[in-house]
Amino acid sequence: MIKAITGTKDILPVDMPKWHALEETVRNVFSNFNYKEIRTPIFEETALFARGIGESTDIVSKEMYTFIDRSETSVTLRPEMTASVVRSVIEHSLHKQQGLNKLYYFGPMFRQERPQAGRFRQFHQFGAEGIGSNDPALDAEMIIMAYDIITKLGLKNLTVKINSLGLPESREEYKKLLREYLSDKVELLSEESRKRYETNVMRIFDSKAENDQKIMAEAPLLIEHLDEESLEHFKLVKEILTSANVIFEVDPKLVRGLDYYTHTAFEIVSTSVGSQSALCGGGRYNLLSKEIGGEEIPGVGFAAGMERILLACENEKSFEPKEYESDLYIARLDKSLYNVVIDNAIKIRRNNLIVEYDYNHRSFKAQMREANKINSRFVMIVGGEEYERGETVLKDMSNGEQFTFKIDATTDIIKKITG
Ligand code: HAM
Repeated sequence: MIKAITGTKDILPVDMPKWHALEETVRNVFSNFNYKEIRTPIFEETALFARGIGESTDIVSKEMYTFIDRSETSVTLRPEMTASVVRSVIEHSLHKQQGLNKLYYFGPMFRQERPQAGRFRQFHQFGAEGIGSNDPALDAEMIIMAYDIITKLGLKNLTVKINSLGLPESREEYKKLLREYLSDKVELLSEESRKRYETNVMRIFDSKAENDQKIMAEAPLLIEHLDEESLEHFKLVKEILTSANVIFEVDPKLVRGLDYYTHTAFEIVSTSVGSQSALCGGGRYNLLSKEIGGEEIPGVGFAAGMERILLACENEKSFEPKEYESDLYIARLDKSLYNVVIDNAIKIRRNNLIVEYDYNHRSFKAQMREANKINSRFVMIVGGEEYERGETVLKDMSNGEQFTFKIDATTDIIKKITG
């Protein structure tokens, strides 16, 4: 028996109501802030992510699904969507048609990470990108939208962490300082952190190794070495968050796993989902467009892991999406009436109602059992004396009340069902 690949998961019909409820909340919030949906291809040229996200990041160096296709092009299943959205804006000159493009998306992403609770190889994100403005109000807007979506789902055990990663110049200066601080401690670091010392020194702050953490606790912090512009930008972001009643924590050690950030970086973490605690993450990326070969266009955004959010909802029992219901089940007393059932089902379905019937020619009793199982609000019974008189019985399953209609009085039947 062939099974789904490790780290991938089927989302079965029973899981769908909660996915749909999450998607509806996300769409509502994004559309209130006037963001428009964008869909980009699932695979892209490898260089887009390698240059956009950064060669030395874990995503690019260890986790991407990259392959050479039949035309000898190196392609990659997208590990995230920010680089794709920025590419699409530049490719279609959206930034020339409109100063600021406010975009949102949903979709599967791919990273070959070690699977565990809340971490998959194919997972789903929703996210937003505001491309074309350097206004700190837009940074704050991203955090507020993420916060609003997550709290609308009823989640409680949250911390909003924010930091400023400054401008590349001040960051480069700071990295020198950090390397200097670590220079006589390199031997004491874990193997992974020794590598990062060479390639991506700030990511040592993310190390889970106890000794690394001890060493990093005393390390100089970027936030103490920020330039004036970054400090001012950060101050304005914090002010807007405060006036929007978003409680946040400044975490000077928050570095994020992607290289494209400048200024604001943020994450919303939850204590309800185990070690993979980041429900979402994002920040500003003013240099990303240039990195992938376009002109310089400032941008900011975030993305959230949908599986993680749903896991948090489940663990906190925060919302009960309503179960699926069908409007009408058409049951027949006699096999020979199958065509009458099909005709009626088609007519009523075309009037925007959910209609079901038995495709397996089972007994009337079995059909009624199925009508109950699928939560049908009404059952229409075709057959018996009523049918001989050209009539049908409609039964309201909530209270057992029965109504008789002419079998071809579709409009009246629909009126009764829709109330
Ligand atoms: P990220 O932090 O790599 O950022 O991912 C965002 C969120 O996706 C994470 O907080 C997590 O909830 C979810 N996620 C990431 N990897 C996995 C996984 N293997 N399994 C399940 N969920 C996962 C980005 O992707 C950036 N594009 C965010 C952004 C948008 N920055 C600016 N604009």
